Amino acid sequence: MSLNTPFPVDVVVMAAGKGTRMKSRLPKVLQRLAGVPLVQHVLNTAAQLNARSAVVITGHGADQVEPLLLASGQALAVQCVRQEPQLGTGHAVQQAVPALADDGVVVILSGDVPLTQADTLLALIAQCGGDKLALLTIDFADPTGYGRIVRDGDAVKAIVEHKDATEAQRQIKEVYSGIMAVPARLLKAWLARLDNQNAQGEYYLTDVVKFAVADGVPVVAHKIADALQVAGINSPVQLAELERAHQLRQAHRFMEQGVRLKDPARFDLRGQLDCAQDVEIDVNCIFEGQVSLGEGVKVGANCVLANCIIATGAVIHPFTHIDGEKLGVSVGEGALIGPFARLRPGAQLGAEVHIGNFVEVKNSTLAKGAKANHLAYLGDATVGERVNYGAGSITANYDGANKHRTVIEADVHIGSNCVLVAPVTIGAGGTVGGGSTITKSTEPGALSVARGKQISIANWVRPAKKPKA
Ligand code: UD1
Ligand code: CA
Repeated sequence: MSLNTPFPVDVVVMAAGKGTRMKSRLPKVLQRLAGVPLVQHVLNTAAQLNARSAVVITGHGADQVEPLLLASGQALAVQCVRQEPQLGTGHAVQQAVPALADDGVVVILSGDVPLTQADTLLALIAQCGGDKLALLTIDFADPTGYGRIVRDGDAVKAIVEHKDATEAQRQIKEVYSGIMAVPARLLKAWLARLDNQNAQGEYYLTDVVKFAVADGVPVVAHKIADALQVAGINSPVQLAELERAHQLRQAHRFMEQGVRLKDPARFDLRGQLDCAQDVEIDVNCIFEGQVSLGEGVKVGANCVLANCIIATGAVIHPFTHIDGEKLGVSVGEGALIGPFARLRPGAQLGAEVHIGNFVEVKNSTLAKGAKANHLAYLGDATVGERVNYGAGSITANYDGANKHRTVIEADVHIGSNCVLVAPVTIGAGGTVGGGSTITKSTEPGALSVARGKQISIANWVRPAKKPKA
């Protein structure tokens, strides 16, 4: 989606409010929805508008909020302006005035309203047209607390805040969403005229409507029906409700693409998920960061998959935890992972690899057909094709100061309960006897056994208890 308007668009995000009802040390706009801070959702949407700039009004928790906003990687130029103290939404936007050019249309958003869609804002901007005041509105069955859209016939005359409204005005179901698009030049002039003579003693941004009417500037309402897009977060309950609603929408989008979710109500995506054809996902799975699932991939119940690429036909059995973090994890075609497997950053598994229960793999490459089926650790290892890695075996990759690599060449069999003390290489086709602690590299084809020799004492008599005196 992109914007092609004859005027530049600048975004103002109000994010100075306290969020008392979250009862959290974390500022409200940094609370996460689908794994992303609320205010970041708003900036991501702004970036989709091709906005020229964004000005974020910070106040409460500014020291925590601003580093996120100013971090590299923001898709658009963000400027932070502090509002101290917080004297209302009009006062908030007044703080942005020095940072706003005169030639743009300003889209005013709230940092705690995360799910507004870019196409909705584009329609609002189109309604503004560069010379009108455009308000995003919605009808609520229970409009309590919201600013009411007062009309005279069709024409919008004012927004009256709930606390200032007459009984008759309180019957109005159409409310202001908190989002508007307004030419910067007009906005600046109107902001200069605000006062705080109202029930709350605040500078109301919404008073710009009456100035527009007085100045003969048309006020247009763009009314939508989708309440999620204007839903603000004030409490943990609202955050959880919006999270579920958002996840359900995402789940439906995937099902419409053909992904088979066992239960869309038990699906959580906190990042980006790409699915090829015929992917099946059982209940209670969480996807984080960048995840890609190839054709026919099956993900069992209760898996967490983060930053990984799962190739065609691979099966991730229940209770598997995969987190590629920065290095990523890749799982090859037809591989079988889990149940209860853990794949950590840098695990690169080839085709038809089997990783079974209670096996942990970190920063290791396993070639086609390698298997580690039970209770094992592979860290900093290079594992060849068809290797069989026995139950309870580990690579001792860390000497307390440095990490070292273990190389297990093709067709090696490692018995159960072995310790491979890195750096060490097990030569191709070799076998390591169960219970061995291997400290020296072995030759191809060799059988290596490194453990105490078994002693058996024939007809040994166990000590007996002394008879009681
Ligand atoms: C506002 C609107 C109301 C609308 C409602 C929609 C005004 C006067 N009223 O009401 O018409 O129906 O939103 O949710 O604008 N903020 C600041 N600094 C301040 C005050 C607020 O940054 O001094 C921020 C808040 O953090 C929040 C946003 O502005 O992100 C909206 O503030 P809020 O107090 O929720 O506005 P309402 O009174 O609910
Ligand atoms: Ca509010």
